[in-house]
Amino acid sequence: MKTIQLLTEVPGPKSRALMQRREAAIPRGPYHATPIFAARSEGAVIEDVDGNRFLDFAGGIGCLNTGHRPPAVDSAIRTQLEKYLHLCFSVTPYEGYVGLAEKLNALTPGKFPKKTLLVNSGAEALENAVKIARAYTKRPAVIVFNDAFHGRTMMTLALTSKTHPYKAGFEPFPGDVYRIPFAYCYRCSYGLTYPSCKLTCASALEDAFKRIVSAESVAAVIAEPVLGEGGFVVPPKEFYSTVTEICRKHGILFVADEVQSGVARTGKYFAIEHYGVEPDIITSAKSLGGGLPLAAVTGRAEIMDAAGVGGLGGTFGGNPLSCASALAALDIIERDGLLGRSAHLGHRFEERAKVWRKQFSIVGDVRALGGMCAIELVKDPGTREPHPEATKKIAQYCYEHGLINITAGTYGNVMRILVPLVVTDEQFDEGLDVLEAALAHVSAAAPRKELATSNV
Ligand SMILES: Cc1ncc(COP(=O)(O)O)c(C=O)c1O
Repeated sequence: MKTIQLLTEVPGPKSRALMQRREAAIPRGPYHATPIFAARSEGAVIEDVDGNRFLDFAGGIGCLNTGHRPPAVDSAIRTQLEKYLHLCFSVTPYEGYVGLAEKLNALTPGKFPKKTLLVNSGAEALENAVKIARAYTKRPAVIVFNDAFHGRTMMTLALTSKTHPYKAGFEPFPGDVYRIPFAYCYRCSYGLTYPSCKLTCASALEDAFKRIVSAESVAAVIAEPVLGEGGFVVPPKEFYSTVTEICRKHGILFVADEVQSGVARTGKYFAIEHYGVEPDIITSAKSLGGGLPLAAVTGRAEIMDAAGVGGLGGTFGGNPLSCASALAALDIIERDGLLGRSAHLGHRFEERAKVWRKQFSIVGDVRALGGMCAIELVKDPGTREPHPEATKKIAQYCYEHGLINITAGTYGNVMRILVPLVVTDEQFDEGLDVLEAALAHVSAAAPRKELATSNV
């Protein structure tokens, strides 16, 4: 049976009425990828208030690796509901928080003793990672990368790269944050090509200590192992070993922001595992909560203990329902083999997308690490000029044909896939069919250009 089923023109009348109420009651700041209002959801499918069924390739921006309302998560939440809702871990502790911390300490890379702090959101996890790194190293500065996204709070906006719509107008931001180029091979900041570049971008970190900030002032280097909002950019294999080697040499902590790339998205529990390095601190969020708000900071025990008693925490951090949900979601990943499933989806996507790159000249680059998949759209494969207009049209076509997916990239020219990993092969192919039809539809409006050399 087809998953996608549109009964009305979208948005339907009920969604339109709700959107009018939304516009009157809520500031325009929170953006919507689609104007439909949800009625219910299950697995990889969302039904809207007008009865239309959409295939969900966005997963609430990567928060539903284990799917919409998996039965085991549902039942863990219901069981917890019958015990207690809120206690505040800082007032009356409870086992779920401890159990989840133990689980994350075991699942994150590195056999050394670890500890985990639970908070509410990805941005809050990054805020705490910076606090902890500063407390441990007694140094102020942080180095981040071009095209990185780390959140919307003031400190995390300082860490985030993209100006519009995230940073512009909200200045000033906290200081002592320095930015260097990322390993974005399709758009290399140095105009070089991998592997003959010898990873100039990774060794640029050493150069930064001469030109930008002294090494002895730097508490941490923070990186998303695979860029999320920045366009699903997957650095070459040796990038992080070089970066972490330089960090170790100078007593600088390496923080992996796995808020989007973590919790099975790339075919490993954490994307940094693909690179064989062990971060000092890992932040996770999004899919960690199995659909409920939850984030974590996991790190070497001695680093995590650097902040004094009362220096970390918050009212709701690690609330009991989220902990129960997260433990159930992590069990599902193991029980249902979602790491393998993620790798499988990535291969399936790449097979299709490589053909698209030959077929449609607007497909400039194809990137996938497990189920973290994307295509980068360009006006001309030779110049690689970004094509945000085509990207918008593709997203719109998909939505109008029953597929919810979202864009990314500093230039807004990347279509990304964060489909729940529980999607069936049939559903996944159905979604890719819609995406392919969208590419054909948008390409038909533009003449074909010759292909440049391929990156994948
Ligand atoms: C890599 C990364 N870090 C941090 C954040 C911020 O997370 P949150 O929106 O939960 O604050 C995000 C959100 O997209 C993210 O992708």
